Amino acid sequence: MCSVLTRIRPIHRAVALSLRLGANTEGSSYAATQSRRLSPGKNSVVDLQRNARFYCSRMAKTEGLLFRQLFEVESSTYTYLLADTNTREAIIIDPVLETIDRDLSLIEELGLKLILAVNTHCHADHITSSGLMKKRITGLKSAISKFSGASADILLSEGDKIRFGKHYLTVRETPGHTDGCTTFVSADESMAFTGDALLIRGCGRTDFQQGCAKCLYDSVHDKIFTLPDDCLVYPAHDYLGQTVSTVGEERKYNPRLIKSKDEFVEIMNSLNLPKPDKIDISVPANLVCGLHGL
Ligand SMILES: [Fe+2]
Repeated sequence: MCSVLTRIRPIHRAVALSLRLGANTEGSSYAATQSRRLSPGKNSVVDLQRNARFYCSRMAKTEGLLFRQLFEVESSTYTYLLADTNTREAIIIDPVLETIDRDLSLIEELGLKLILAVNTHCHADHITSSGLMKKRITGLKSAISKFSGASADILLSEGDKIRFGKHYLTVRETPGHTDGCTTFVSADESMAFTGDALLIRGCGRTDFQQGCAKCLYDSVHDKIFTLPDDCLVYPAHDYLGQTVSTVGEERKYNPRLIKSKDEFVEIMNSLNLPKPDKIDISVPANLVCGLHGL
């Protein structure tokens, strides 16, 4: 039995490459446009944004849990670091290739032992650093949904528990943006890492990578909106600088998901978004933990 997960199925290992991405979006084109509009003089703030480390004081209320929200500017991706303050065991959610040095430096500075790099789904807009992290940290394992089609040490299923020290996250399968989308929920249901299934006042697009608007609607309503109102929602992206929401807020104010299912499907089918810039590079790479070729 693995100490990281209640169930483990080792599969084949990743292979090598280093690719870098430019900006693109898996959210709405409106949000991306706003992001650019709100970020004049981008070069002057890129370093600050790239190295952004948000600390949520709410998390201090969960005894013995260390939490950091990290930001990658080119794809507006949030990476999350969670650790047991006693055992120092840590996991990282959705790490990005461009910020691997920042993330590993922080992990070292905090004296943490990173045991798992897990992705909420196979990303289309950036390359995960989980494979490269495995090369730099002995014993580190990778994980992703068994429905993602991607390689990893651990393939996740509904109800699996991702353990680190005395803490754990429970896996909820939330397909719709992709077949292999998962949401990770803390043991006390005080926070949910929703990937691209539920964004702040938005949701992931459903027009590529097995996207299914009906499935996404059911996933959010059945697996996320059933959590407590005060459960914190930590998405995989935000293009407007919003860092966190709650289930109650999204149930009340999410402009898409408060609609009926038929209306939601119509909205999603009418977005007409451009394809993410790097989808043809990032998806093949993410199918092998972000490492592609030898
Ligand atoms: Fe995505």
